[in-house]
Amino acid sequence: MKAATLAKLESLARPFSTRLPPRAVVRKYSEGRLDFLTKLGEETPSEFYSPPEEFSRELWGIRFRGPVMNAAGMFKNGECYEMTAKQGAAGYIGGTGTWNSRHGNEKDGIYLPFAPYARSHAASNWLGLPNDGDHANSERARTMKRVADCPIGWSVAGPPDLQGEEMLRRLVTGMRLYESAGVDFLEMNESCPNTGQGTPNYDELGTRLRYVKDNFLDIRTRRLPVIVKFSVDTELPQVPSLMDMLFELGFDGVNFGNTSTQYARRRATIHPDERKLYDFYTIGDFGVGGGVSGRPLKEDSLALAGRAVEYFKAGPPSQEFHVIRTGGVESWRDVEQSERAGVSLNQWYTGYFEMFAKHGHGVYRKLLAGAAR
Ligand SMILES: Cc1cc2nc3c(=O)[nH]c(=O)nc-3n(C[C@H](O)[C@H](O)[C@H](O)COP(=O)(O)O)c2cc1C
Repeated sequence: MKAATLAKLESLARPFSTRLPPRAVVRKYSEGRLDFLTKLGEETPSEFYSPPEEFSRELWGIRFRGPVMNAAGMFKNGECYEMTAKQGAAGYIGGTGTWNSRHGNEKDGIYLPFAPYARSHAASNWLGLPNDGDHANSERARTMKRVADCPIGWSVAGPPDLQGEEMLRRLVTGMRLYESAGVDFLEMNESCPNTGQGTPNYDELGTRLRYVKDNFLDIRTRRLPVIVKFSVDTELPQVPSLMDMLFELGFDGVNFGNTSTQYARRRATIHPDERKLYDFYTIGDFGVGGGVSGRPLKEDSLALAGRAVEYFKAGPPSQEFHVIRTGGVESWRDVEQSERAGVSLNQWYTGYFEMFAKHGHGVYRKLLAGAAR
């Protein structure tokens, strides 16, 4: 069965899954997600869709074919570049990668626990940065067959199992591997909720970012933009000081943002029929917490990215700087709102898979067709 057919059948069944016991749903969808991704990785779309020229844009001298690309964590080991490029993605991001390979989280015999909330257009995950490590993945990045104007980025993080200077050294070692592999940009994941990160602690964040400046940014061997991805739980008043830090240290952009751990607040946007599963996963018997993704993040990602643009415009740094929005992007209307707010690029995850379930490999064509209406 093709990935698109599988996704469609599964999406039809999803709304009824709330009738099953929550543990059974998490087990079924955690396993199903992995099977589906394997299937997806084996496919390439028969058609090549290139977005109309009017959607393309240039950031840091790099051309992106459109306004939307995948978010980090979708293709952790460099899978599916050719597939997303053929679908019409603006660009591609692999990872999050860490210097060492990581197995990822497991709870009660459920590997990489995931919970879908179909009626809420949302999901929870607690994966813990599973990946094959920066050595293996940078080699994959090096050999990817490039598609024009679909640049390749990589999301990187300090290995959460290491501490202090050792962790920072490994982070920068990984960044150098991707630099020499020829990737077009890097994104530092400063916001994974599933490894003990989350909303930034200024002192630790400042130390990490300064280390990256001294040991990577200042000695880059070519123009390689580095952006920093924060949580969508970042408070609006924190934006100016975060931006000042990025400006001063020479970073090239910011991404708002990563999944949410504000479970009580996001619960209001979860459909009443799905709250039992939501509670079970986040704070109840299963209780892994994890990160909430999808529609519940839409307003905050727009507000944070919009505030970042406003602040940037009031006093731009000397380097070219861009604001990226991630969180709850699922339709052309969302993209339009981002464009109006001055956001340079969008990334999507939950919305992508929902759209894929409906339209298969026509996912970007369908999204961008919204512009004509
Ligand atoms: C299953 C899953 C795995 C994710 N893994 C990562 C990751 O490895 N690195 C990262 O920066 N973000 C990761 N994210 C967060 C997404 O990149 C994105 O920031 C978040 O899901 C919000 O976007 P969305 O509302 O479009 O899903 C993950 C999200 C999901 C659902």
